[in-house]
Amino acid sequence: MAFFSSSSSTMLCFFLPLFFLFHLFISSSSSPNPITIPISISNPNPDSDLYQQLSHLSSHSKARAHHLKHPYANSSAITSTPLLPHSYGGYSISLSFGTPPQVLSLIMDTGSDFVWFPCTKRYACKNCSFPGSNGIASFSPKQSSSVKIVGCLNQKCGWIHPDFDPSTSCSECQSVKSRNCTKICPPYIITYGSGSTGGIGLIETLDLPGKKVANFLVGCSLFSSRQPAGIAGFGRGVASLPSQLGIKKFSYCLLSRRFDDSGESSSLILDGESNSGKKTGDFSYTPFVKNPIVADRKAFQVYYYLGLKRISVGGKKIKIPHKYLDIDSEGNGGTIVDSGSTFTFMASPVFEPVVAEFTKQASHYKRAENIESLTGLKPCFNISGQKSVDLPELKFHFKGGAEMKLPLANYFLIAGNYDVICLTMVSDNSFGTDFSSGPSVILGSFQMQNFQVEYDLHNERFGFKQQSCK
Ligand SMILES: *[C@@H]1O[C@H](CO)[C@@H](O)[C@H](O)[C@H]1NC(C)=O
Ligand SMILES: *[C@@H]1O[C@H](CO)[C@@H](O)[C@H](O)[C@H]1NC(C)=O
Ligand SMILES: *[C@@H]1O[C@H](CO)[C@@H](O)[C@H](O)[C@H]1NC(C)=O
Ligand SMILES: *[C@@H]1O[C@H](CO)[C@@H](O)[C@H](O)[C@H]1NC(C)=O
Repeated sequence: MAFFSSSSSTMLCFFLPLFFLFHLFISSSSSPNPITIPISISNPNPDSDLYQQLSHLSSHSKARAHHLKHPYANSSAITSTPLLPHSYGGYSISLSFGTPPQVLSLIMDTGSDFVWFPCTKRYACKNCSFPGSNGIASFSPKQSSSVKIVGCLNQKCGWIHPDFDPSTSCSECQSVKSRNCTKICPPYIITYGSGSTGGIGLIETLDLPGKKVANFLVGCSLFSSRQPAGIAGFGRGVASLPSQLGIKKFSYCLLSRRFDDSGESSSLILDGESNSGKKTGDFSYTPFVKNPIVADRKAFQVYYYLGLKRISVGGKKIKIPHKYLDIDSEGNGGTIVDSGSTFTFMASPVFEPVVAEFTKQASHYKRAENIESLTGLKPCFNISGQKSVDLPELKFHFKGGAEMKLPLANYFLIAGNYDVICLTMVSDNSFGTDFSSGPSVILGSFQMQNFQVEYDLHNERFGFKQQSCK
């Protein structure tokens, strides 16, 4: 068992500001590669009720997991791009689009592959008053000289609608055999667990530090529900930001959630060079795992799968059936890494043994079931009156030998008046068997705080290193 012991005053510093936005300040960059995007943090919401916020965070993490696992569960006829609900605890970056550039804050999401922003003065967003997201900026196409609407015959229309057949959907264009057909690409509507967005595709200029990217496909959303901001999809699909930019590698460091004022910053780095084979510093690497292509599960191709081999708690290996850690021939099971999820999700056959082992090794603390039901997190322990706290170490063991040992602040948080701590992971109890499809484990951003992570697409591997992101 690993010990985490310290005086309560220092240990208690891992409290949780619940919503934080990164604001991007474009820095100059003389060469186009790599592009560094500094990001800073703010916590606009220190006063809301903590249990309620935790409960929102855990239910949003569950809804997110449900969506990732059922991307097509309820898509409308003209829907095809999987997009995701954003939990309160997401990370966002700012990007500039148009001529002259308009700056917008978008959630960075490695679990989806489409980039969209709130668009026009008439943008309507229902149930979108998230803490910290008041006054969402909207893109104004009228004020850009470089904007174009995606036409029906444009190849990029097929990126929005993968099963799109121009001969039927653009029949007017076909019949007149017209090169200058003005019919636009049909609108997209994207639905998910607890929200939606819809709009039309635009071709715009993405203005990155030191680099202008013309002909970038971006969604101009006219309406949404439950979206704190637009989304920048960093997944594997053709329409994602790294794909459109031809990025070979991107990396970021997620600031600790204990920073509660703006001004602190960390970086998202987009690297166009392959640096083939070269490893970064003392990173640990694990290869990305391929998901077999299954016709009706194409959405899973967007995700970044990792080969999680084993989970250990306090040095003890948790018995988890292989069928959950491996991806089966139907494309179900396995582990993905997802910046758009807050708390890590584990299917219950994975989660329950983990909870049982924590409960066993931390049996010197009383379970706080009342707080578990209030927050949706478990196990929670009452540490009232303790001078120091010792809890088992949590480690993920990956294919290739890489081990991720989490700092305590990445998997336990203090809920309430400093006398209860809860494991920050969620499972599927409230969704029943519906959770059997899709990935079994979704590594969320809460678990990645103060890790520099690298998505090396050229070498198909995921690198990580624990460090302070400050
Ligand atoms: C899909 O959404 C409609 C309402 O938009 C709802 O009536 C229906 O039950 C949903 N279907 C599934 C499978 O969730
Ligand atoms: C969503 O908005 C409707 C009104 O548009 C309101 O009645 C409902 O309570 C809201 N739901 C939440 C969860 O805020
Ligand atoms: C382009 O459109 C105009 C009418 O809008 C039409 O008269 C013309 O024939 C079209 N050109 C081609 C090449 O189809
Ligand atoms: C934790 O335990 C203490 C002492 O046993 C008790 O007074 C307190 O109410 C408990 N806290 C919670 C949140 O249950």
